[in-house]
Amino acid sequence: MPVKLVVCIGTRPEAIKLFPVVHALEADGRFDVEVWVTAQHRGLLDQVLRVAGIKPAIDLDLMRAGQTLTDITTAVVTRFGEALDARRPDRVIVQGDTTTAFAASLAAFYRKIPVAHVEAGLRTGNMFSPWPEEANRKLLAVLADQHFAPTKRARDALRAESVPSERVYVTGNTVVDALLSIKDRLPEFREANAEIAQILPPPGSKQRIILLTSHRRENFAGGMERIATAAARLALRDDVFIVFPVHPNPHVHKVMNARLAGHPRIALVPPLDYVPFIYLLTRCHLVLTDSGGVQEEAPSIGKPVLVMRDTTERPEGVEAGTALLVGADTDRIVREATRLLDDDAAYMRMSRAHNPFGDGRASERIVDLIALAHVAEPTMRAVS
Ligand code: UD1
Ligand code: UDP
Repeated sequence: MPVKLVVCIGTRPEAIKLFPVVHALEADGRFDVEVWVTAQHRGLLDQVLRVAGIKPAIDLDLMRAGQTLTDITTAVVTRFGEALDARRPDRVIVQGDTTTAFAASLAAFYRKIPVAHVEAGLRTGNMFSPWPEEANRKLLAVLADQHFAPTKRARDALRAESVPSERVYVTGNTVVDALLSIKDRLPEFREANAEIAQILPPPGSKQRIILLTSHRRENFAGGMERIATAAARLALRDDVFIVFPVHPNPHVHKVMNARLAGHPRIALVPPLDYVPFIYLLTRCHLVLTDSGGVQEEAPSIGKPVLVMRDTTERPEGVEAGTALLVGADTDRIVREATRLLDDDAAYMRMSRAHNPFGDGRASERIVDLIALAHVAEPTMRAVS
């Protein structure tokens, strides 16, 4: 009898980082796989599911405009729990540090259904940065029984919290699997990328593209405004063109539209589908972001990334010299971006393509490790 697995997805980054795992599990006859979405995100999630060809078996459709953390947590614990009671899977797989990942794992734990955690062990050491994600990750370390750490550093963080080492595995981050699965095929997606391509300065133009994204809750109390001011100051230069796919969170939307709309060298665009977003990443000169996933993708494509946060749970990029923490600090953002625009040597130092977060084979390792937990004689591929 195949092992009954439920892959739980709530938001855009979970869908991006779990679609390679879903595809790998579906290709393996040892498993009967269902994707259940809480739809903590709606439009952002559906964009990725469409590109990845994933049709959820259950869609809880939970997103509400301006939802609070309590709203999402209670709704996921209740509704995901009811679905578990009805279908009784052998294992639940969650990813990352969202409220969906935490609350779905809590619902599974209440029913003694084992949980595998993909992207386990990321830590800043500060419970309020990012908030509430750092707490979600720590809670997941307690609730899950399989911990797939993307890097050795993440593995060590879990060991330091006394997570049993025989349950912690270094697999690489599935974000690299997702990225590599489309990066080399970008020319095939010419049509999908046409809309964003036509607003960009043409290749060879003196205008350098800065890709900007921002959505972190801890940047809501003033940080968004400081980021917007930095963008406006950078866009005073006529050799710069800023593209900002604006996250639909009402707080982000309101601040960014009020401060940046109508600027001739800033394009505020709706969230991009994953493929056009990666295309934009390949076309840009540098990245300003507070996103977790974008911090991981930029080094793979060799783009310098200025991280607009005070802490990062992904220091591998900083240590490798391709990412720099600048906080949500207007002067620092402008100073470091200006250095990268004006100093070719500084730019060259930060634009080395490398993959500190994975090798593109994380999903296949995860599949084998899940088999190890349920199937008598699994065929193991290399696990680092
Ligand atoms: C969530 C995650 C965060 C992750 C981010 C990825 C939590 C607590 N936060 O933050 O870790 O980095 O997703 O993007 O789990 N909205 C839409 N359409 C969408 C998605 C969101 O309109 O497709 C709006 C809604 O008004 C929603 C609001 O954004 O209420 C906030 O969404 P929510 O998931 O609560 O928080 P994010 O800031 O997106
Ligand atoms: N992304 C996307 N379209 C966009 C912005 C981001 O597809 O307009 C992708 C990006 O490639 C990355 C992921 O979304 O894989 C990051 O999601 P987000 O920044 O929302 O969340 P985080 O990673 O910070 O949790």
